[in-house]
Amino acid sequence: MSRPERILVTGAAGFIGSTLTEQLLDEGRRVVGFDSFDDFYAEEEKLRNLEAASRRAEFRLVRGDIRDAAAVSKALAEHRIDGVVHLAALAGVRPSLERPALYADVNVNGTSVVLEQSVRHGSPKVVMASSSSVYGERSDGPFREDDRVDRPISPYAATKKACELVAHGFHHAHGIGVVCARIFTAYGPRQRPDLAIRKFADRMRRGESIPVFGDGSAQRDFTYVSDLVAGLVAALDAEPAFRVLNFGGGRTVSVLEMIRTLERELAVSARIDWLPRQTGDVTKTWADISLARETLGYSPATPFEEGIARFAAWLRSVR
Ligand SMILES: NC(=O)c1ccc[n+]([C@@H]2O[C@H](COP(=O)([O-])OP(=O)(O)OC[C@H]3O[C@@H](n4cnc5c(N)ncnc54)[C@H](O)[C@@H]3O)[C@@H](O)[C@H]2O)c1
Repeated sequence: MSRPERILVTGAAGFIGSTLTEQLLDEGRRVVGFDSFDDFYAEEEKLRNLEAASRRAEFRLVRGDIRDAAAVSKALAEHRIDGVVHLAALAGVRPSLERPALYADVNVNGTSVVLEQSVRHGSPKVVMASSSSVYGERSDGPFREDDRVDRPISPYAATKKACELVAHGFHHAHGIGVVCARIFTAYGPRQRPDLAIRKFADRMRRGESIPVFGDGSAQRDFTYVSDLVAGLVAALDAEPAFRVLNFGGGRTVSVLEMIRTLERELAVSARIDWLPRQTGDVTKTWADISLARETLGYSPATPFEEGIARFAAWLRSVR
C-alpha cells in the first residue's frame, strides 16, 4: 500500500499534533489540521505551535469539534483524506477527576465520530492516541501490550482504554486499520503547560517553588516528542491492521532525577513543596517497546538529558 499523502490530524494545534504536522509537511504530504482550540490551555500558545505550519501551502487549518460529525465529514471529503492521525482529546489525569463526563464525551464519543466518518469516507487508516495510563497502578515492568489493562485508576485512563475497545469494534465490523498508540509521557519543545516537566521548568525560571506529589520516587518512561512522531508516522505508513503499540523511551526516570536534570539545564535550583500523593497518579510507567520496534522499526534515539537540553533551549526561545 502506498503511503497516505493527505492526512487529517485532529488536535493539530496541540503539543504532539503540531510537531507531527510539521514532520508530515517536511515529508511533502498535505495536512489538514482539525482542532477546536479548547480552553485547556491558552489559544495563543496553540496558534504559536502552528505558526510554521501555517506558512506552508500544503497546510489547512479547520476549526471544529471532533464530536461534530458534519464538520469531520466535511474535512474528510473536501480534502480527499487518505490517512487520519487522531490526537484530539481532553488530556491530563488530574483534571479528569473534576470533569469525568466531559472527558468521556470528548474522548470516547469524539473518537467514535472520527472512526465512523473515516469509515464512511473510505479512509483505510487511522492512528490514534492511547496512553500509558491504561496500564493502571503497577510497580513492575516493563509494560507489554498484552498485559491486563482493565483496572484504570482515573477517568482519563478509562476513556483511553474505552477508545481502544471502540477502535477494535470498528476494525472488526468495517475492516478499517487502526493503530492505538499507547503514548508514554511525551516531552520536548511545545510540551503542554500542565505536564510536570514544563510546569516545573516554568516555575523554576520564575523563582517559584515546585509542587511534588509523593516523595519524588515515582518513575516515568519519558518519550522525546520527535521520537514519538517518527513512530506515529511509521504507524501511518504501515499496512493497515488493528494494532496496539507502546511508544515510550524504554527506560525510567524518577521525578527527582527529572528535577535534577532540569536544575542543571536551567542553571537554577528547585525549591520543592512536598505534597501528598494525588488520586489518579500512577507510581510508575515503563514501556516494553519491542513490539513497536519489530512491527514498525520504532527506535527512540534521544537520551533524556539531550531531550531536556532541547526542551530548555525551546523554552528560552519563547519567553
Ligand atoms: N503528551 C503526553 O504525554 C501524552 C501521553 C499519553 C497520551 N497522550 C494523548 O496524545 C494526544 C495529544 O496530546 P497532547 O499532549 O498533544 O495534548 P494537547 O492538549 O496539547 O493537544 C490536544 C489538542 O486537541 C484539541 N482538542 C481538544 N478537544 C477537542 C475537540 N473536542 N475537538 C477538536 N479538537 C480538540 C485541543 O485544542 C488541543 O490542541 C491526546 O489524545 C492525549 O491524550 C498524550
